[in-house]
Amino acid sequence: MCLLAEVGGKNIDFYQLIDYSFNSILIVEQEGEIIYCNKAFVELLDFFTSNEVIQKNLLSFVSPEFHVFCKQQLKNVIEKKEIAGRGEKKMIRRDGTLIDVELMVVPFNMKGKVLAQLIIQDISSRKIAEKRLKDQEKLASIGQIAAGIAHEVKNPLTAVKGFLQLYQEDHSHPYLMTINEELDRALDTIKNLLQVSKPDLQDEPFVQINVCKEIKSMLFLFQDRLYSVEVEIDLKDSEKTIKGKKNLFIKAFYNLMTNALEAIEGEGNIKIEHYYKDGCNHIIISDTGIGIPEEKIHILGTPFFTSKSEGTGLGLTQVFTTVQEHGGNIAVQSVLGKGTTFHIQIPVT
Ligand SMILES: Nc1ncnc2c1ncn2[C@@H]1O[C@H](COP(=O)(O)OP(=O)(O)OP(=O)(O)O)[C@@H](O)[C@H]1O
Ligand SMILES: [Mg+2]
Repeated sequence: MCLLAEVGGKNIDFYQLIDYSFNSILIVEQEGEIIYCNKAFVELLDFFTSNEVIQKNLLSFVSPEFHVFCKQQLKNVIEKKEIAGRGEKKMIRRDGTLIDVELMVVPFNMKGKVLAQLIIQDISSRKIAEKRLKDQEKLASIGQIAAGIAHEVKNPLTAVKGFLQLYQEDHSHPYLMTINEELDRALDTIKNLLQVSKPDLQDEPFVQINVCKEIKSMLFLFQDRLYSVEVEIDLKDSEKTIKGKKNLFIKAFYNLMTNALEAIEGEGNIKIEHYYKDGCNHIIISDTGIGIPEEKIHILGTPFFTSKSEGTGLGLTQVFTTVQEHGGNIAVQSVLGKGTTFHIQIPVT
C-alpha cells in the first residue's frame, strides 16, 4: 500500500512511515476492535503477522487490571476528541507473559469517523533497570544498617573474648569452653556480615574470570556431599570470560550450590548451565529441592532471612551483592515441592 502526501515539495509515503515506525501504532474503534496495527506492534507481542491481531479486541492484549481505564480512555478520545496523555500499562504477549508499555491515545479521523490511535512504547528494559536500582538501594541500605550494627557489636564482643581468654589462664570451669565457642560463632557471623554487606570494601582486584573453569573446580568441594544428588553440568561458550572479583564469584557459586544441596531432602538433581547470549554470560543453577514460597521470593538476598535452624541467612546476600556489584542481574523461579532455579546474567566486559 502507498499513501503519498506532498511535504516540502516531496512525495512522502506515510503508510510506510507508520508501518515501519519504531513505536507500535494501532487504530482502534470505540468498542476496542483493532482495525490496523503496524509491524512494531506485531513484534512487541511476539506475533508473526498482523492478521493475528486485526479485528481482535484491544482488551484481549491488555492486562485485566487496566481494562476499565482503557475503555474510559477510548470513550474520552473518540467521543470528546481528547488526547489521553502517556500512561504505563501492561500488555499480554502471544505466550501469555506480560510486557510493560507506555501508551498514548489520540483521536484519529478516518473518512469523517473518529477512531482512536494508540502509540505504544516498550518500556520493559527501563522497568527492569528501575527495579534493579530499587533492589540495589534496598539491599544497600539494609546492608549499611546491618554493617553499622555489626561494627558496634564486634568491638565489645572482641573485648569480651580477650578478657575471657585472660580469665581462662588461671580459672577453669566446664561452661567456659561453651562460652568461648558461642562467642566465636557470634564473631564469625559478624565477620561474614561485614564482608557481604560492604563487598566493595574488599579490595580484591578485578581479573578475567573463566566462569566455567571456576564452576568445575568449585564442584570438587562438594564431592563428598553428592552421594544421593545427581549433578548435571552443561557448560557452553566456556571461552567467554567476565571481568570481576574472582573470590567473590567462587563464594557466590559455593553459596548457591550449598543452598541447592540443602534444599534437596533425600535424592534429587542439580543442573548447572552456562552459556553466552546478548552480551552476557548466563549461569543457571536449578535444583529439584523443596522450593521457596512465592511470598518469600522477593525478600531473598535480605540479610538474615533464613528458614534453616542452623542458617545465618547471609549466603544469598553475598550472592546478590556480588552479582549487583558486577552489573549483573538475578532472577529466581521456584515451585514449592518441585524445585528452584537461580538465573544469573553477568555482562561480558
Ligand atoms: N535453592 C533453594 N531452594 C529452596 N530454598 C532456598 C534455596 N536457596 C535459598 N533458599 C531459601 O532462602 C533462604 C536464605 O538463603 P541463604 O543462603 O541466604 O541463607 P541460609 O542458607 O539459610 O543460611 P547461610 O547463611 O548459612 O547460607 C534459605 O534459608 C532458604 O529458605
Ligand atoms: Mg545458604
